[in-house]
Amino acid sequence: MLIHTERMESGQVALLSLRNPPVNSLSAALRAELHAAIQDALADDAVRALVIAGDGQFFCCGAEIREFNTPMSGREPTLRTVIALIEDASKPVVAAIHGAALGGGLELALGCHYRVAQSGASLGLPEVKLGVLPGAGGTQRLPRIVDVERALTMICGGDAIDAETAADCGLLDEVYGSDLRQRAAAYALKVSAVPLDGRRVGRQPLAAPADAGVYERARQEAARRYRGCVAPLACVACVEHAAGATLQDGLAFERERFLELVNGGQSKAQRHLFFAERAAVKLPPEWRAAGAIRKVGVVGAGTMGGGIAMSLANAGLDVVLIERDAQALERGWSAIRKNYAATAAKGKLSAVQVEERQGRIRASLDMDELRDADLVIEAAFEDMGVKRQVFEALDRICKPGAILASNTSRLDVDQIAGFTGRPAQVLGTHFFSPANVMRLLEVVKGRETDGNVVAAVFKLARAMGKLPVLVGVCDGFVGNRMVSPYTREAHFLLEEGATPSQVDGALQRFGLAMGPLRMADMAGLDISWAFRKRTASSRPADLRYSRVADSLCEQGRFGQKTGSGFYRYEAGSRTPLEDADVLALIERCAREDGVERRAVTDEEIVQRTMYALVNEGARILEEGIARRASDIDVIYVNGYGFPAHRGGPLFYADQQGLPEVLTTIRRFHAEHGELWRPAPLLERLVAEGKRFADL
Ligand code: NAI
Repeated sequence: MLIHTERMESGQVALLSLRNPPVNSLSAALRAELHAAIQDALADDAVRALVIAGDGQFFCCGAEIREFNTPMSGREPTLRTVIALIEDASKPVVAAIHGAALGGGLELALGCHYRVAQSGASLGLPEVKLGVLPGAGGTQRLPRIVDVERALTMICGGDAIDAETAADCGLLDEVYGSDLRQRAAAYALKVSAVPLDGRRVGRQPLAAPADAGVYERARQEAARRYRGCVAPLACVACVEHAAGATLQDGLAFERERFLELVNGGQSKAQRHLFFAERAAVKLPPEWRAAGAIRKVGVVGAGTMGGGIAMSLANAGLDVVLIERDAQALERGWSAIRKNYAATAAKGKLSAVQVEERQGRIRASLDMDELRDADLVIEAAFEDMGVKRQVFEALDRICKPGAILASNTSRLDVDQIAGFTGRPAQVLGTHFFSPANVMRLLEVVKGRETDGNVVAAVFKLARAMGKLPVLVGVCDGFVGNRMVSPYTREAHFLLEEGATPSQVDGALQRFGLAMGPLRMADMAGLDISWAFRKRTASSRPADLRYSRVADSLCEQGRFGQKTGSGFYRYEAGSRTPLEDADVLALIERCAREDGVERRAVTDEEIVQRTMYALVNEGARILEEGIARRASDIDVIYVNGYGFPAHRGGPLFYADQQGLPEVLTTIRRFHAEHGELWRPAPLLERLVAEGKRFADL
């Protein structure tokens, strides 16, 4: 039974509870039972009003996403049919919302004549995040209740609002602190005496808003926030269509747009990521987090350490932040204070919250304070000598069982574990910058890391609102390792004839948040230069190597911070400007290395850089550094600005068709040499007629 019916208020109120754990999704089977239960209650003369509620943690979190693009999603009664039955009903129907009413769940509630909620509930239409729009009347009914501007914000942005805000804007009629079901039933009985005319949302006329600019502003905001995505623009079009149209006409328009989106590539990619993120955080069930992590030490209060400490404090943990000298400690502290002040200035935190969070971070110069920490995250310099010194000290100081983690970007976590007498308790936690903002966390399992330790860190990461993905030990783990061939190809393309703005432009038009050369200028060219100098002796002499980035650094062009890198920057500006000196430098490098200059197309730029990612991704998978193809997609979208509407590099490769990808990689191999040797896994998949998704 997916619907549980009970009678309340001496049998005068029928309370129908959705019972489809975990989120009461509106599967075909549930819709059929709900439709029948509503009909039964309407036919029962003793019943004067209906309440629809949800069992478990939520009212209802929407459609069954796995039924999208299957015959089940269109099976009658559809959600639109159920909502029409409710809206046209002769007896009042009250939605009693607790936990969350999201997507189709909120659309169901919008079809009801009254909406009441338990305090703490959240309400939203997040469909846009899956590349679709609310397709069961949400775009037509919401603007009829809240104003058009609010409806546009909710539908095009996809973020939920809390019950109190919902009540303020008219979306909820009542908010209760407790006893939702009883109070909803009593409320339903009370309103059963009131005529329903004004309560049928879909029948209310919707006038065009006085300020016609709202739609254009929504389109601009959509373009900014969801760059390259078609769904938010379709959302605006539906809301715009609602004004002045009948409900029937509006629903038909909404339906057409929904079908276009749900059958389109962008939504498929976004749904892939939705499931990929859920799969990524799952660990083998035998790995169990033993004991809670309450007190955490962070070593190093630099760029990363400060952000990590803030993330921990934000999640309610006590943090001891260790530095090597007073000056560095003061610098780190003041960065944290400034960061919190900026968040407070934006109105995102109250002064009290800032105090509370800062109060959880204790700064110290004394490593002994880490004695009782459950976990210590090291974020000191990226240097094996420093890591050795820190981990030897931590092993000496920290209590037995304490977990020791390194935030290293690419150093060997197994070697670091070897500096301690507890390698099973050592792992990598690779945060992304800014660490207090970025969700992604690569959790690096060393050769000897205990699965239970990984589970404990995953649990903590989830509590911090992070998205942990398990990776193995290799140079650069998953993300940074894939960046290397990607950047390599960008530099080769420069030598072969492309300009920096052409390379960046092609990739930004493809959907990347920022092209690789602008990104390098922003991050600072000196960091990777130092790395290349350090590892120069191990570079095979027979492989092609671009000296463009090294030559820029030799001229002191370290990127934005020096006012010049791949581009030049006017004082105080971050706008990259093409620089004739750089073009000349590139030409010189090409000449000296015997690279022939030619016209490079945008298509080649995309293929050379994207297929470099794909080929490296295939090697990473084959080596078992990543557990799943979809984990690589999650990392790349969440850590490297890869467009979500393309689903990640390996999903993109599957969509292109692996035979076509391999053919192109083979051509690049023939033209550009060994660096392009096809990954054996890619060859095997093509030979077997499979995709990355089949692994
Ligand atoms: P940073 O140079 O900004 O900060 C390092 C801090 O560690 C400095 O304040 C320094 O005084 C302190 N420190 C050095 N040795 C210490 C010791 N023995 N005891 C206590 N404190 C010590 O460096 P950043 O960028 O924060 O990087 C830290 C680590 O995170 C490195 O391993 C880096 O590779 C990694 N990482 C950096 C990312 C970034 O975008 N900056 C991204 C991901 C990882």
